[in-house]
Amino acid sequence: MQVVIADGPEEVGRIAAAKLAQAVRRRPGAVLGLATGSSPLAIYRELAVGRREGRLDFSAVRAFALDEYVGLPLEHPQSYHSVIRREVVLPLGMDPALVHVPDGSAEDLPGACAAYERLIREAGGIDVQILGIGRNGHIGFNEPTSSFASRTRIKTLAPRTRADNARFFDSPEEVPTHCLTQGLATILEARQLVLVAQGEAKADAVARMVEGPLTSMCPGSALQLHPDATVVVDEAAASRLELADYYRYTFEHLPSWQRYDGADG
Ligand code: F6R
Repeated sequence: MQVVIADGPEEVGRIAAAKLAQAVRRRPGAVLGLATGSSPLAIYRELAVGRREGRLDFSAVRAFALDEYVGLPLEHPQSYHSVIRREVVLPLGMDPALVHVPDGSAEDLPGACAAYERLIREAGGIDVQILGIGRNGHIGFNEPTSSFASRTRIKTLAPRTRADNARFFDSPEEVPTHCLTQGLATILEARQLVLVAQGEAKADAVARMVEGPLTSMCPGSALQLHPDATVVVDEAAASRLELADYYRYTFEHLPSWQRYDGADG
């Protein structure tokens, strides 16, 4: 796992965006895994600048969202279908037909989950999966005790997750209780993982994910099993990392073939 400690939240977005830009330049039809929530917004902003300035072209890029609420109408402003469209598809100029979100309104939810897994396989798998982490260590909506072997399925949101996400809704009761989420095994199959976290509230989860034991009590610790996982955090989110100085030293001494220091990179 590579841990990068950035100067601030915007810098987190810039560094992570450089990884994605690299993947899209190498393969214009790259398959991206998209996260929602606040953490990846700086990445999407940075990529949108690249697109506006003509440095990046997302028109052939395919994408799969990590998760979706169950029971929110597609057109609800907080459905991940709407969020992905607003924050990613439109600003990056993606083709909406190439961007998929699990169907949380399906009558047959297990069938919708199986269909989602099939679509990812048919696309050849995900090249780069963007991730955030919840304060309780969840990735996607794989809440604590999720199996490392899990695939896309229905999950019950932890009360803490519902409380954290209440900021997006008019009242806490409006936050759905269930979701569909890619499983931990689904996420681990992506060829590259890029997780971003900003702020002191994430410091404990980040430390448990990077330096704690491999445990389903911290689903983010599954990243320790992945051969190409990068964690980009700001100083506040890194504040409980024991080996912070080592991560800084490592980043400063990256060999040239491992560098990606700018969205132009
Ligand atoms: C969102 C997702 C979640 C969030 C996590 C952090 O698609 O899968 O795991 O990444 O809840 O959310 P924020 O970034 O809002 O703190």
